[in-house]
Amino acid sequence: MTELERRTFLLYVAGSAFAVLTTGNVLAATLQGKKEEQKPAGKPKDPKGGKELKPGLQDDGSFVLDPANPPKFEKRLETKKQEPNGHFLEFGKDTIIVSQSPDKKAWFAVSAICTHKGCGVVYKPDDRCFQCPCHGSKFAESGKVTKGQAKTDLTSYTATEVKSGTKTFVKISPNK
Ligand code: FES
Repeated sequence: MTELERRTFLLYVAGSAFAVLTTGNVLAATLQGKKEEQKPAGKPKDPKGGKELKPGLQDDGSFVLDPANPPKFEKRLETKKQEPNGHFLEFGKDTIIVSQSPDKKAWFAVSAICTHKGCGVVYKPDDRCFQCPCHGSKFAESGKVTKGQAKTDLTSYTATEVKSGTKTFVKISPNK
């Protein structure tokens, strides 16, 4: 091999090595980019607060209910074994019932303790009212008495449906 042939050969080898390294870097950068594209989107967030909602009592005094997984209710309420059509909850000093309208467009939360003699009221979706099974008092979805014995309205609360990620919760707050 002449000196000229030797130099030409060395230049060829160096050029090939550079080409391999460059191609490798481009390939690595492409794969890295793909990896970053595939990263998970992160935890679901509350669209309003930017924070994921967790069921239970909140810092602002409201209560977030997961209707698909309500907390266990231990208290004994006299309902004459009628279907409550809602969820009984302890909320502050009150015991409340949270129910959804039959068309699924609205939620209602009122005190579950009848203002006549303290039985537990149940929701009647067909009549769209709360009713006391003990002596027949009826209350509108707003808690207002529509039929005695009871003379005083049930305390009502604001119940709003909230989405957090893929879940649907009901946020209950005292009325202002
Ligand atoms: S306790 Fe409810 S109507 Fe009497």
